[in-house]
Amino acid sequence: MNILILGSGGREHALAWAIRQNPKCDRLFVAPGNAGMGDVARCVELDIMSAPAVIGFCEEASVDLVVIGPEAPLAAGVSDALADARIKVFGPSAAAARLEASKAFTKEICDACGAPTAAWARFDDAEAARGYIRAQGAPIVVKADGLAAGKGVTVAMTVPEALEAVDRALGGEFGEAGAEVVIEEFMQGEEASFFVLSDGTHCLPIGSAQDHKRVGDGDTGPNTGGMGAYSPAPVLTPALQEQVMARIVRPTIAEMARCGTPFQGVLYVGLMIHGGEARLVEYNVRFGDPECQVLMMRLGAQVLDLILACTDGQLDNARVNWAEDHALTVVLAAKGYPGSYEKGSVIGGLDDLPDDGFRKVFHAGTASKDGRIVAVGGRVLAATARGDSLAQARERAYALAQAIDWPEGFYRRDIGWRALAR
Ligand code: AMP
Ligand code: GLY
Repeated sequence: MNILILGSGGREHALAWAIRQNPKCDRLFVAPGNAGMGDVARCVELDIMSAPAVIGFCEEASVDLVVIGPEAPLAAGVSDALADARIKVFGPSAAAARLEASKAFTKEICDACGAPTAAWARFDDAEAARGYIRAQGAPIVVKADGLAAGKGVTVAMTVPEALEAVDRALGGEFGEAGAEVVIEEFMQGEEASFFVLSDGTHCLPIGSAQDHKRVGDGDTGPNTGGMGAYSPAPVLTPALQEQVMARIVRPTIAEMARCGTPFQGVLYVGLMIHGGEARLVEYNVRFGDPECQVLMMRLGAQVLDLILACTDGQLDNARVNWAEDHALTVVLAAKGYPGSYEKGSVIGGLDDLPDDGFRKVFHAGTASKDGRIVAVGGRVLAATARGDSLAQARERAYALAQAIDWPEGFYRRDIGWRALAR
């Protein structure tokens, strides 16, 4: 079959790399893709937010399946339009994508199905929000309701900080996304992510991961999209995973179906774990980036069979063949990220890197210029490896990162510390 992946990051390179390995995959396209994907797919220029453009390409290139990487086209209804055009699509409808696109919607679903999460309230009136914050005290968490490119959440350690976050959101800093705020109880604990496929009715866990959101070693400095990740996350024991499935995931999937908006795709379950109990922090309706890189390293070719089980409503018959291994990815970012950074610096040393099923450098913000690879984004590469142990995966991933010749880039030196300390 011919397959089109929408997106251009490390996540989509990893998806393409894994799907390419499956013999069911004939032609593979990524739109718009990046400079590193040519090894496994053909990159095509397409406006992925435009359903007519995507459908037009699918008809022209006889695409049988579309896999949607990022949340924006999902929230904009590209999955719905493809389904209406009778093109197989992996990724939820706009109505189901509200699990990521509206924090208040997710909280309402949690309340309706009894999924444990932080106590919360929603406000579109600043005075009422301020009164609530003063009554609750700090620490407290203020969130813009809608999609705010990862910048809409303030974990406020003091009441003035929380009040300022309300003023910024309701004052228009995030546009429509901040027209309403959700104010939440601060949850203590260790964060981990859990990934579950759903065909709308059934669900199947496909692995756990932990991300490193802060830019600097020792989890210091500003938040980023993620500077590295590993899978599995040892904090999510088999017993906790079963608890999360029973109390959070299955009730959510059932509630979404009951509301007439079944969720088909991958559910990214962000959890806070404390005292042997897991509570929901957030849902995303897509793979994480860079969590996807470590999941694809571990799943490999079978991910296409699992995706097809979702699109065909057959997930109850699907199984994951688990390799008892570990994967770790180190993100190489442009100096200055997540603030401002230079574009156009040349990256060397990429041609001689091992690429053997255990080690792979996925591209994110790269482009080709005059036959060379140049950096054009904040997060630029993801040096990814698997091994029999997390320590071995880490050693291999760091050996890859070190072999890349890019003086204008940097990476964290401590990816995996939390799990290795355990
Ligand atoms: P979200 O976009 O909802 O995942 O929030 C981004 C980050 O803020 C999370 O990954 C957590 O680190 C933190 N966070 C969000 N909600 C809470 C909460 N209720 N308590 C503590 N930390 C939170
Ligand atoms: N790495 C976090 C995310 O993809 O949302």
